[in-house]
Amino acid sequence: MPAESASAAPIGEAPPASALLAVAAVTKLFGPLRALDEVSLRVDRGEVLGLVGPNGSGKTTVINVISGLLAPTSGRVLLEGQDVSGKAPFRLARRGINRTFQIPKPFPALTARENLAVAFHGSRLTDAEILELVGLGGREERLASELTASDQKRLDLARALVTGPRLLLVDELGAGLSKTELDELAGILRRLVAELGMTMVVVEHLMGFLEQVADSVTVLNAGAVIFSGGLSEALSDPAVVKVFIGG
Ligand SMILES: Nc1ncnc2c1ncn2[C@@H]1O[C@H](COP(=O)(O)OP(=O)(O)OP(=O)(O)O)[C@@H](O)[C@H]1O
Ligand SMILES: [Mg+2]
Repeated sequence: MPAESASAAPIGEAPPASALLAVAAVTKLFGPLRALDEVSLRVDRGEVLGLVGPNGSGKTTVINVISGLLAPTSGRVLLEGQDVSGKAPFRLARRGINRTFQIPKPFPALTARENLAVAFHGSRLTDAEILELVGLGGREERLASELTASDQKRLDLARALVTGPRLLLVDELGAGLSKTELDELAGILRRLVAELGMTMVVVEHLMGFLEQVADSVTVLNAGAVIFSGGLSEALSDPAVVKVFIGG
């Protein structure tokens, strides 16, 4: 977070109007484990925030808290300044927040098209347009169970898109994909921002992918934010380098 915006809005106060999402001092405990430790971040409209950190640092937990799958132990999630902490995922989907899953779980016995048909619809795009957009054009009638891992990720993205999210949370879409598939997905995410005005939080280990899509990054380590700012600054930040290269 740039210093001026950090000082402008003390934790607990509504963020400036331009922030679509603000996570304010969110702590999440799993029994004795402090999975998130006073995590704060903010994403402006049309911005893509990369969320980075080693395995187990809390990235998916942040996405789970923002998307309503988990309630924070303390702290707040603000959508356009309104407290939405702990609201159920289906309510948040109607408010314009949706996410993809690190491990997609489509309905295996339904086709790609049917997997979208059963979702809540809030997008101005048709299901066919969304399938085309994510690169599943021509494979609409395939059973989800018969899609490749890469196509199941595209289907999971499409499932989130049919709800018409203003804020899309993407959890490691790139893992296990080839360079060509990664470039294609990065292109799709950029189109969602440029053409549909979407705002995003993108969890990703692959820096090359983030370079293509993220405007700024927040780095987590052991549940705490250790850096917020530009990606190139992050890569030369001593604390970030220590965490990734192991000191
Ligand atoms: N539902 C849960 N119950 C108990 N512990 C959990 C739960 N979810 C996550 N954790 C723990 O919280 C910590 C953060 O996990 P999280 O999945 O958020 O990490 P991550 O940064 O997404 O990791 P990865 O890069 O492997 O996906 C880990 O120690 C994890 O084991
Ligand atoms: Mg994760």
